[in-house]
Amino acid sequence: MSTYYVTTPIYYVNARPHLGHAYTTIIADTLKRFYSLLGTDARMLTGTDEHGDKIVKAAIKENKSPKEFVDGISAEYKALWQDLKIDYDQFIRTTDENHKKSVQALLQKIYDKGDIYFGEYGGHYCFGCERFYTEKELEDGLCPQHKTKPEYISEKNYFFKMSKYQDWLKQYILDNPDFIRPERYRNEVLAMLEGNVLEDLCISRPKSRLEWGIELPFDKDYVCYVWFDALANYISALGWGNEDNSQNFEKYWPASHLVAKDILKPHGIFWPTMLKAADLPIYQNLNVHGYWLVKDTKMSKSLGNVVDPRFAAEYFGLDAFRYFLLRDMHFGSDASYSEENLISRINSDLANDLGNLFSRVLSMNAKYFAKKVPSLGTLTADDENIFSCVQNAAQNYLQLFKEVRFSQGLDGLWEPIRLMNKYVDSQAPWTLYKEGNIERLGTVLRVLLENMYKIAVLLWPVMPDSSIKMQEQLGKKFTLHAKLIDDLLNCNVHLRTDFEISEASNLFPRFEKPVEEKKEEKVKKEKKSENKKDIVQETQLIEFADFQKLDLRVGTILTAEQHPDADKLLKFEVDLGEEKPRQIISGIAKFFNPTELIGQKVVVVANLPPRKLRGLESQGMILTAEKGEHLSLLSSVAPNGSKIA
Ligand code: MSP
Repeated sequence: MSTYYVTTPIYYVNARPHLGHAYTTIIADTLKRFYSLLGTDARMLTGTDEHGDKIVKAAIKENKSPKEFVDGISAEYKALWQDLKIDYDQFIRTTDENHKKSVQALLQKIYDKGDIYFGEYGGHYCFGCERFYTEKELEDGLCPQHKTKPEYISEKNYFFKMSKYQDWLKQYILDNPDFIRPERYRNEVLAMLEGNVLEDLCISRPKSRLEWGIELPFDKDYVCYVWFDALANYISALGWGNEDNSQNFEKYWPASHLVAKDILKPHGIFWPTMLKAADLPIYQNLNVHGYWLVKDTKMSKSLGNVVDPRFAAEYFGLDAFRYFLLRDMHFGSDASYSEENLISRINSDLANDLGNLFSRVLSMNAKYFAKKVPSLGTLTADDENIFSCVQNAAQNYLQLFKEVRFSQGLDGLWEPIRLMNKYVDSQAPWTLYKEGNIERLGTVLRVLLENMYKIAVLLWPVMPDSSIKMQEQLGKKFTLHAKLIDDLLNCNVHLRTDFEISEASNLFPRFEKPVEEKKEEKVKKEKKSENKKDIVQETQLIEFADFQKLDLRVGTILTAEQHPDADKLLKFEVDLGEEKPRQIISGIAKFFNPTELIGQKVVVVANLPPRKLRGLESQGMILTAEKGEHLSLLSSVAPNGSKIA
């Protein structure tokens, strides 16, 4: 059986998932289903990218250790994919032990080959992108992505000889027109390779600056650059570099990658040259899409225009939402997200065209044939026209989906759907019934039912639940098998006269009510249930033994100062009546002037395991009380070391 392996980017865990992440993942899910429908053994990988500066910073902001922090957001991604019914086969995390092993094997392989060397480098480092920029790449001295001024950093590091592969890569792209697609991104990568511009890639970070990463196998003072680590996920997930578990690599590699244009360079340049240097087969293709914009602006947390995919899927229906995403974005170009666009797409294509076709045909069939499938009589030119229109649209649809041109594929499939609605009007089954022309009436309905079945099957990758419902309404259970699509295309008849079909359909409701209004209702409802949750939480009881586990002690702050490497953190020495004062790091800098806290009595959780916050060990936690924007320290007049019980 042939195989297909589709991947999403592994998402950074420094922010919560939004529509952009959901889009790529829904496309990957659609492709996996599409290739399964074609009888392929299809596999989908997604996951989270958990190392690097960015993550450490985000963890500090939430006063958590990096591990605690990444566990939380990674779980949020998993939960969202579950709610969106994403059928991935594997969720990789770059903090997985097997992944670390693979990355180290990859580094060692390239190092042994002589393509990694040690050198000194000075460059403009953008912490947002986690990469160095050359002078030329900056725009007015600013990072082109983040529009912030990068920091000039000079240090000794390891470098991958990427420049060595410049000519090879250029030729490879020229020889393989589908390698990077759509074409505009292929041209963009070729433009990046124009002239002798490709520099070697800095692939390490000294541990003195960053510890949260994978240690280089040939130098324990360095960790691996986060992009090198992240890109390797696509093969580490298949067990490459891990002796016990590499059979999936043999089976599924090379991959079909999905990314948006923001990460074209690492995928279009770093990754193929890394694979080439490691003597591994190059990935099959890189499919690059544009951005979902909200009112012409890229979504961002700071602008407050981030779209919540869970809300949209719940409110409009998961399948309708998926259909809109695939239909309204021309893969490769940017698209505009708005609830108005979504509603108008649902109402026209799903409610009016597809939903209406199912409703009217099923109800007529129930009325005229008591829900049984009628026989097919002699076909007229109009009937043949329906069969051939569906056949052509199906073939184009399959081809266009292979080319990741989902919008065009769906647009084409809607032609026969609209044609069938017109066919109902022109054949006027109600007149045939009145005239007693039951044989012709049966043929008309059977032509419709058979072709509706084909459309229903073809839509499974895009709208899985609705497709199955439509097929069941036509009396047929959906089961994937190797020859499903061949049979579908090669045969006109798939239903049997003893099938019982539904009398009503009701697949896609129309959305008339102003969205904002409904949204407000939902928010109100959610608030209500949150309040309920609060009450439940307030009354949730713990065992006394659990409380006893806490070692709460009274202490006095001896020193308090700003953490040298983090604006949000303060560094304290607190006397807990022990031999030595404790060093405690706390994320409360925004609320207090440190000098004012010296001498203050506090309550400390004294039995937490020590943990490092931005390089300094914290040996406990100072308790605070918070209400809205106001924060105060918990205090007690008891002598230092008193245990609170
Ligand atoms: N961690 C890296 C990827 C490493 S892959 C080896 C990263 N993560 S990310 O969280 O920033 O995700 C970027 C990806 O999220 C984009 O490439 C795209 O797939 C998706 N999107 C994020 N915002 C988007 C839009 N506004 N529109 C469409 N997709 C976008 O980069």
